[in-house]
Amino acid sequence: DQPVGVAVLGYGNVGSEVVRILQEQVDDLQQRVGAPLALRGIAVRDASRDRGLDPDLVTTDARALVERDDVDIVVELIGGIELPRELVLAALSSGKSVVTANKALLSEHTGELAEAAEARNVDLYFEAAVAGAIPVIRPLTQSLAGDRVHRVAGIVNGTTNFILSAMSETGADYGETLAEAGNRGYAEADPTADVEGFDAAAKAAILASIAFHSRVSASDVHREGISAITPQDFESAHALGCTIKLLSICERVPSPGGRDRISARVYPALVPDSHPLATVGGAFNAVVVEAENAGRLMFYGQGAGGAPTASAVMGDVVMAARNKVNGGRGPRESKYANLEIAPIGDI
Ligand code: HSE
Repeated sequence: DQPVGVAVLGYGNVGSEVVRILQEQVDDLQQRVGAPLALRGIAVRDASRDRGLDPDLVTTDARALVERDDVDIVVELIGGIELPRELVLAALSSGKSVVTANKALLSEHTGELAEAAEARNVDLYFEAAVAGAIPVIRPLTQSLAGDRVHRVAGIVNGTTNFILSAMSETGADYGETLAEAGNRGYAEADPTADVEGFDAAAKAAILASIAFHSRVSASDVHREGISAITPQDFESAHALGCTIKLLSICERVPSPGGRDRISARVYPALVPDSHPLATVGGAFNAVVVEAENAGRLMFYGQGAGGAPTASAVMGDVVMAARNKVNGGRGPRESKYANLEIAPIGDI
């Protein structure tokens, strides 16, 4: 069978786990895809570091790797926005499928990227961009495509959940636990994105976009972080039978007589101890979806960290590879309803 060529851009917490899985599970992956998955190269910033990799696989020229004729699927795990945007667009416009975990990129440029994928009839998959290992993108884009989603709410940042859970349980302050989250590989390169809610807002924008078939960007999301939360806030919350969680909430806002609008917001919220989200500890994530006919669904699991996130990336790689082998592509995006954003004051 003709191999499916895979290029991995970025070799951080997630990239290194993706490469490990590609190398360790060669036979299983080949069986599931129907052809071998061939790792063509790994793009890194600094090739002089010894990573224990075959030097022939390592390159600093991500652009040349993306453009190789024997690369069919580009896995983008670099982070940041401008460079990955260029590389992803280059890949899509030359007919390669793309798998990315880059929530910041998607929360700004989904429309442009989706159109580039559509133009060349290739896949753009991003299950790993929201809530790590937990399947939330596919359930919203596919399983619930025939339903009407009213609300998506949950904990989608592992770093802040790790910090808030520790503060709730031990009375620690947030600075002490932030370093520990970084050591465990949960935090972003710049943890400001985590603690100030930017990461959760990017994920809320992606969830709102796909749940409501509209284009929602991170700047549409009302955002408050957790850096001002103190041990005293937890004492007050506990006295009320509550804890504090950083929630991302995306809602369809009915407008009587008019078109529904969307509200997307991220903020530290009081959550009653009896609520299922209150029990989500450590770096775990949970997403609750409320749909008109399905009712309430809850998704729970590891939302950050190298191996769990790589699991979601690899699911997308297998899907894209199967589509290549079978000469097709996965389900297309829903046609867009383009609901407007409701200002926070209207909620
Ligand atoms: N920094 C992110 C988090 C990683 O803590 O959830 C997963 O997107």
